[in-house]
Amino acid sequence: MFEKNFCFDDVLLVPQLSDIISRKEINLSSSLENNIDFLIPIISSPMDTVTESKMACKMNSLGGLGVIHRYNSIEEQSKIILEVSKTGHSAAAIGVSGDYIERAQSLKDAGANILCIDIAHGHHVLMRHALKALRNTVGYDIHIMAGNVATLEAFNDLADWGANSIRVGIGGGSICSTRIQTGHGMPTFQSIVNCSKSDRNVALIADGGIRNSGDIVKSLAAGADFVMLGSLLAGTDESPGDEFVSNGKKLKTYRGMASKNAQMEWRGHTASIEGVTSSVSAKGSLQDTILELMTGARSGLSYTGARTIRQLQASSKFIQQTSAGSVESSTHIKLK
Ligand code: IMP
Repeated sequence: MFEKNFCFDDVLLVPQLSDIISRKEINLSSSLENNIDFLIPIISSPMDTVTESKMACKMNSLGGLGVIHRYNSIEEQSKIILEVSKTGHSAAAIGVSGDYIERAQSLKDAGANILCIDIAHGHHVLMRHALKALRNTVGYDIHIMAGNVATLEAFNDLADWGANSIRVGIGGGSICSTRIQTGHGMPTFQSIVNCSKSDRNVALIADGGIRNSGDIVKSLAAGADFVMLGSLLAGTDESPGDEFVSNGKKLKTYRGMASKNAQMEWRGHTASIEGVTSSVSAKGSLQDTILELMTGARSGLSYTGARTIRQLQASSKFIQQTSAGSVESSTHIKLK
């Protein structure tokens, strides 16, 4: 009756014969489309506790991408895009209602080469209208990322409606309460597996619930071209917001954009609350965090014997873990 589906912890990649002598042989580059290339397959989330100017500029210098959130005025967001456009790619989020066309035009004028239509339920007629209207105004020489979606049907629809890359994952984010509030969602891992079966020439961005480099490797192996990260980057020096101390620990605020706090701050009232406000440990420079994640990811590719993301996708083998296996997979030393 029910379709079986898997989340990150349900699966493991099988180690395979490797001839990789040094992890330096491993190339983690990826592309959103022809000529929109990146050294690392990492994109920071368009959230007000993750990506503003500092994060996006540093992501550019590290070879990834940061998407500027849309929870500010058109002028403020365009000013940030102007700053980022000097450092490389510049990507900005927009919605599908209100002043989004004016916002998109202003962001394009400020130098954005990637627009991200950022809505919670991307498989929606408003998305179809927005993609059409945007192509009529900003044209085809700008990359349009769209999402989020959970199913292959949605992925193909967004591709056919004109999206160039698609964010895949509904309800899996660390600060997300969509599944609790609405009963809807799909494990991000399974959504990647399903959407990667698409024959459309569109990049797949795995988004929501990625907790470590192991999840990054599983996402890429299952068919993602990129991963989008929120909680993993929110505690870095480059994320917006100040550190604060609680119980002797240095923290930074991290909140869902559909949380009560975020909604009250950016639109003065709340609609459906589908996120929470939380905090993450302050962890120093973005560079150190990215280096650690990419070192883990490189090691991951070497366990499959793959030198590139494409090779990983072609030769990776997943197995299902039992629940006892999943306990064994986490560090499980017991104090004596
Ligand atoms: P994380 O990397 O697990 O922390 O998830 C980050 C992702 O959660 C973002 O890229 C968004 O797709 C998603 N997200 C952001 N805010 C909310 C929210 O308030 N509710 C549900 N999902 C959210």
